[in-house]
Amino acid sequence: MAGPTTQEPLKTQQKCIAIFALLCCFAVLMVLIFSSVNIWGDDEDGITEENCDRDCHIELVENIPGDLSFPMDGTPHLPLSVGFHTLLDQAKRSVEVVSPVWALNSWELETMPSAVKQGQLLFQRLLSLKSRGVKLKIASSLTNSTELKTLAAHTFTRGGLHSSFWIVDRKHIYIGSADMDWRSFSKRKELGVVVYNCSCLALDLHRVFSFYWQLHERDYIPSIWSKRVTALYGRHDALELQLNATQATAYVSTSPELFCSKDRTRDVDAIYQVIQSAKTFIFISVTDYLPLVNRSFRGTSVTRYWSPIDEMIREAVVLRGIKVRLLISFWKKTHPLTFNFVTSLKSLCMQLLNCSLEVRFFSHKEQKDDIQHGLNHNKYMVTDNAVYIGNHDWVGSDFAINAGVGLVVKMKNNLQDRGATILDHVKAAFERDWRSRYAKSLQGNKDQQGKYRNLQPATIHMETKEDNEWNNPSSL
Ligand SMILES: *[C@@H]1O[C@H](CO)[C@@H](O)[C@H](O)[C@H]1NC(C)=O
Ligand SMILES: *[C@@H]1O[C@H](CO)[C@@H](O)[C@H](O)[C@H]1NC(C)=O
Ligand SMILES: *[C@@H]1O[C@H](CO)[C@@H](O)[C@H](O)[C@H]1NC(C)=O
Ligand SMILES: *[C@@H]1O[C@H](CO)[C@@H](O)[C@H](O)[C@H]1NC(C)=O
Ligand SMILES: *[C@@H]1O[C@H](CO)[C@@H](O)[C@H](O)[C@H]1NC(C)=O
Repeated sequence: MAGPTTQEPLKTQQKCIAIFALLCCFAVLMVLIFSSVNIWGDDEDGITEENCDRDCHIELVENIPGDLSFPMDGTPHLPLSVGFHTLLDQAKRSVEVVSPVWALNSWELETMPSAVKQGQLLFQRLLSLKSRGVKLKIASSLTNSTELKTLAAHTFTRGGLHSSFWIVDRKHIYIGSADMDWRSFSKRKELGVVVYNCSCLALDLHRVFSFYWQLHERDYIPSIWSKRVTALYGRHDALELQLNATQATAYVSTSPELFCSKDRTRDVDAIYQVIQSAKTFIFISVTDYLPLVNRSFRGTSVTRYWSPIDEMIREAVVLRGIKVRLLISFWKKTHPLTFNFVTSLKSLCMQLLNCSLEVRFFSHKEQKDDIQHGLNHNKYMVTDNAVYIGNHDWVGSDFAINAGVGLVVKMKNNLQDRGATILDHVKAAFERDWRSRYAKSLQGNKDQQGKYRNLQPATIHMETKEDNEWNNPSSL
């Protein structure tokens, strides 16, 4: 008789426990889902793919160090610092900055006050944003920077961030070689673009920023990413837009592969597409060119040949007859093997008609100190129909390991309404550098070959522009 009456409450108790356990599981699951999907208050300001702005203006910005002299050939370029100040003038709500280095406000350099002035000015303006009610958000890999502490900023905790870009009010952007280093505004030669009134592109670049931001909040790379970091545009579905009233397409690429969220094009694939679609010429200007990658294997560092970009160039030159020019910096960190890889590329055109691959090294003064005097820090490629502006040098390890972004802009070919486009401006900047007295070609004769063995960049003889008469004014 007692049996059923004692068993009834026991059953209900069991049921309760089961339901409670289920609820717990559900709660844990929800927490897991939400933590990986990450719902934040920070929305996209009501800007969506449907209502964003595609009628944009683009401007080339450059820093040309005062002690480099180029013939004035009417190449218009806006000074980099003016570009940044214009962006800050426009800022009403937010300024988001990604930079691998924060050294705008270098106090050690009291001996060169004029060199640091621009950097300090920019730093002061960034500090004063708060008083205007503009939010400043920063992603950087340097956690120990006193400047970042001064800016009360958030830091990107993982190493290897090379990305350098700005997003202002989710409307205007900057991408280029310059970072938040006083050298970028004085001693180093930099090139980038500022795009105004372009919320579509800003929205997409902001997703890269959000990606870094999410990494900052955790110290592992999640396998499920929030929809908020999915790429909006890529090499197969580029953004259609107007750049200074010219029809164009654009998209943002990133690296390393691990950092490519859903649908995001890898830098290497973006470069591939640009090289692949070139019809007549490809001009490349990078600080370093080295098809090698360092990987850590069982605790030791192993160096491997990294072929992707080297292959693309070879194919374009030999099989498609594209004229390629490679402008590389010759500086204290130039890897000795650079000369071997470059010589190998050049030798491809031996005995081939209509084959043209030229390499020049940009060098200014020997740099004894860390000032990087006159260093060509550019990282771009321009072709007859597209431009790629990135954060990485063309070094395998950079693409494989370090974080960077690139911007691809492709022009539609409707020739009649073409005024001077961004392509023409970048090309003019390249040709100015290429023909300058700082661009020297390696001497190829046998006597010089012995010197390569030394593997000391400083001992490799350079032909100066004067020895090497420019007897072929470009027909392009
Ligand atoms: C961090 O900064 C402090 C003071 O500026 C310095 O003493 C310390 O060595 C730095 N740590 C690292 C890991 O760079
Ligand atoms: C951006 O758009 C605003 C409003 O339409 C306009 O006043 C401004 O001049 C534009 N900026 C640029 C650089 O084109
Ligand atoms: C690889 O790492 C070694 C040691 O750290 C360094 O000397 C070398 O320059 C690196 N090579 C590349 C391609 O980054
Ligand atoms: C080389 O180029 C010229 C002009 O572009 C063309 O006429 C000629 O057929 C080409 N020769 C070869 C071997 O492709
Ligand atoms: C695009 O328009 C802006 C503003 O009108 C101008 O400053 C800039 O130089 C133009 N860019 C190009 C590539 O013509």
